[in-house]
Amino acid sequence: MFASTIDNKAIDNLPYVALNGKIQVVTTQKQLDKALEYLSACNTVGFDTETKPRFSAGKMYRPAILQLSTPEMSYVIHLKKVGLPENLSAFLSNPSVIKVGAAVRDDIIGLQRYAPFTPGGFTDLQDMAQQYGIAEKSVRKLSAIVLGKRVSKTQQTTNWETYPLSEAQLQYAATDSYVCLKIYQTLLANEQEKKTPKERMYEEALRQAAALIDPESGTVTNLANMAALLKETFHFWWVGFYLADKQKNQLILGPFQGPPACTRIACGRGVCGTAWKKGETIVVPDVEKFPGHIACSSRSRSEIVVPLKNASGEFAGVLDIDSERLETFDNTDKMYLEELARLFEKFL
Ligand code: SME
Repeated sequence: MFASTIDNKAIDNLPYVALNGKIQVVTTQKQLDKALEYLSACNTVGFDTETKPRFSAGKMYRPAILQLSTPEMSYVIHLKKVGLPENLSAFLSNPSVIKVGAAVRDDIIGLQRYAPFTPGGFTDLQDMAQQYGIAEKSVRKLSAIVLGKRVSKTQQTTNWETYPLSEAQLQYAATDSYVCLKIYQTLLANEQEKKTPKERMYEEALRQAAALIDPESGTVTNLANMAALLKETFHFWWVGFYLADKQKNQLILGPFQGPPACTRIACGRGVCGTAWKKGETIVVPDVEKFPGHIACSSRSRSEIVVPLKNASGEFAGVLDIDSERLETFDNTDKMYLEELARLFEKFL
């Protein structure tokens, strides 16, 4: 599974990504023709542009170079020398050659300042990574998460309009487009890691939950926010907590979102009491088929109940979620809700 986020410290310990293949600098139309002939026969190429950095507002430079990489060859095209002739704009419009980059929209707008063209075949790694549950956006972080490799950024803000570019600049520029291709290929090769919309929503909810949890506050505050977060994210019919009163052997209604609900449930009764008794999550696809289900609302059709433990591992209550639709909950909900429950163990 790919990590959702990564911090800079972790990246600093990774090995640098090594550029495979050669760098070919393109400064003439003839060289460009040759490059495009080769690139047009490829299914997928890495794509990036570099623009002279702007240190004050106002002046907007056009991209100085365009990098296009295959596994064997990285072309660094000096746009200031060759411009954007017809065959290059045709390549950038060609839907059958996939051009993979990060935040490609900005690069495309920059290129269109040379000559108008209709972009075709562009794929944005930022959108793609999101489908795998990766929250990071920068190439540096995507490379670290997907490839386990570090991309140097030391040349990023150098003057790209210089000619000839230094060896370090060329390496950096070529690597940036090459690494986009590698990330794309690795993501595709791991298609089984792709997340469903529901999984992505849970991952986002988990991130928000981790940020929302307030260690200074107690049970009510934190559980109230957890109930609100789940209700707002998934629009479930009812989301709430029942907390254990062990002396009375009962669950007592805690923070919740949704219509008013039953206040007390005995251990072993209903779905909640059964989850307590069995000490496990219970998924109910159809509440009418669950013997002893307690109907707090006639609109509830399916349900999931996750038992909660406190920091000492003792039973502390349940998280109960009701849906107006049948068969709303499955193993995905179970897995993520159990993970969520572990986040607030220390407040119970
Ligand atoms: N249906 C639950 C009771 C709680 S409400 O759904 C909010 C149960 O059978 O335990």
